[in-house]
Amino acid sequence: MATVISNKKVAEGVGLLEVESSLGGKPGQFYMLRAWDKYPLLSRPISIFDAGEDRIQFLYQVVGEGTRRFFELRSGDQLQIEGPFGNGFPEANGSVALVGGGIGIAPLYYMAKTIKNADIYLGFSREPYLTEEFQRVSNQLHIQVGGTVLDQINFRDYKTVIACGPHGMLKAVQSMQEEIGVPNHVYVSLENRMACGIGACLVCSVKCKDGRKKACTDGPVFPVEEVVFND
Ligand code: FES
Repeated sequence: MATVISNKKVAEGVGLLEVESSLGGKPGQFYMLRAWDKYPLLSRPISIFDAGEDRIQFLYQVVGEGTRRFFELRSGDQLQIEGPFGNGFPEANGSVALVGGGIGIAPLYYMAKTIKNADIYLGFSREPYLTEEFQRVSNQLHIQVGGTVLDQINFRDYKTVIACGPHGMLKAVQSMQEEIGVPNHVYVSLENRMACGIGACLVCSVKCKDGRKKACTDGPVFPVEEVVFND
């Protein structure tokens, strides 16, 4: 169990939860969080927003009963956290773009803080949030409200591109990479549903060009050319 340090509303239906924990983790990894006993059945996979020696922050969006319970947590409350899970982001050298859409911005802050020289592109459908925090850890911060943030990026400018966001955005990232056809490294972090987080249940199955993989243990980060996106 972990104790809640704080739980702040940062936008409508979006919360930043900070808990006491020394478990750490690397950028792009996630934890399974649970703030209830039996219902809902499944714990929720939430990316690490930031981690220190004795605390971890999680950025989450309220999309159902489980995340609504997270929103109700207050300082001093307890919740179950298991992790860190997943492969996390690859090491990125040279020019790096971090691209996030909606709640997909969650894992990018920790990555930007770790590598220090990234250009960051954040897309929001409505009010932007945590932009001051991202400003502090980015080389250049680009914000888009409405439309697609991908319109602001030239993939040719970067050796590595890392994207996290809704399915449509990641599919568009794959198309852009295919069109350009340059040998830079483009990775996507998938937001699949999960149940166990440890490779035992297959709920998180991902269709890849060389067969099915598990988002929780083979991912959630994949080279974009490996993934087969459904229409
Ligand atoms: Fe169970 Fe991935 S969540 S196998």
